[in-house]
Amino acid sequence: MAISVTPLDPNDQPTLDAVYRIAVAAQSADEPDLPPPCRRRFEAPLWHPMPGIDTRWSVARLDGVPVGWLRLYLHTLDNTENASVELVVDPAYRRRGVGRALHEHGRTVLREHGGKRMVGSTVTPLPGAENRELPGAAFAAAVGARPALADVRRRLDVTTLDRPRLASLLADARAAAAGYRTVRWGDHVPEEHVADVAHLEGRLLLDAPLGELAWEQEKMDAERIRGVERALDARGVRRYNAGAVHEASGRLVAWSQLSLEASSVQHAWQQITIVDPAHRGHRLGLLCKAENLEHTLSHEPGLRVIDTYNAAENTHMIAINEQLGFRPAAGSTDWQLTI
Ligand SMILES: CC(C)(COP(=O)(O)OP(=O)(O)OC[C@H]1O[C@@H](n2cnc3c(N)ncnc32)[C@H](O)[C@@H]1OP(=O)(O)O)[C@@H](O)C(=O)NCCC(=O)NCCS
Repeated sequence: MAISVTPLDPNDQPTLDAVYRIAVAAQSADEPDLPPPCRRRFEAPLWHPMPGIDTRWSVARLDGVPVGWLRLYLHTLDNTENASVELVVDPAYRRRGVGRALHEHGRTVLREHGGKRMVGSTVTPLPGAENRELPGAAFAAAVGARPALADVRRRLDVTTLDRPRLASLLADARAAAAGYRTVRWGDHVPEEHVADVAHLEGRLLLDAPLGELAWEQEKMDAERIRGVERALDARGVRRYNAGAVHEASGRLVAWSQLSLEASSVQHAWQQITIVDPAHRGHRLGLLCKAENLEHTLSHEPGLRVIDTYNAAENTHMIAINEQLGFRPAAGSTDWQLTI
């Protein structure tokens, strides 16, 4: 049984097919309640990189057959000593050393690049469901990583969403947010708000709980926001956004985003929600989220579920999500390894 690990050749279609099949098989084994990965998005890093991310994609073969893959995301604009990692082994070929071989390869690439840390996440059982067998945590611990941040994925079942309650939450939030008006947009942020969106996105990591993760503030500006939009356009990701504008200054001071993969009509991700610290305490977080939920539902009649991740200790955001009807669906742990 010979294991080899080599860089993925973007023009090698049979290997790309095999690698995608492994992603689908792993997802249905490890997170069966999520839809299969969107192929267009999956392959996009090969052709349409995100600004500031240099993706190194490698394939593991067992006796010549692709059985696993690693994506190492090297950060080039900020966090240049860090790499995010995705490492997946075909469920039919686990516990044969393939994961370890991919990890060793990733370590070598990171070292050559002058990097110091790898960060990856694994699915973990929710409290009370600890008997569920999930290999990621045991593997991460076996390669020497340390748990750095506990997250919970929460899910909103849109089919049982209490629409009158959503309308009344929104009305209450609007009443509490005198002096602010909401704006909605789709895939591209209006030019007048792009600098404010960059400011909000850039300061997200100053506020979000990071646990033990060594992650610095990301350098965001209007140009990078436009670059991210181009990359998401290429992935076919549909985005819905709502923001709150402070009427006295004209600044966009709160913002929330939902997105759907190109392959998805039933499933969406609740992405970022952030309120500028100077404007907290006016229910702008709830306002933007509830407004955006209505916005998305009005364009996506087939939507059935929305998932979102929060740090387990992010009590504020979790309270808003619970009010909207999100409930825990799975645990997740971010692991950090200093090489
Ligand atoms: C985690 C994963 C990559 C492991 O792949 P693998 O090829 O089975 O890993 P290896 O055979 O190299 O295992 C290396 C060590 O990890 C630990 N390990 C891996 N799977 C384990 C399991 N199910 N139970 C307990 N320990 C486990 C063991 O210590 C193992 O060494 P050993 O077999 O000598 O005891 C694979 O299960 C997977 O793709 N999971 C889903 C994605 C994921 O969680 N990725 C990791 C985070 S980025």
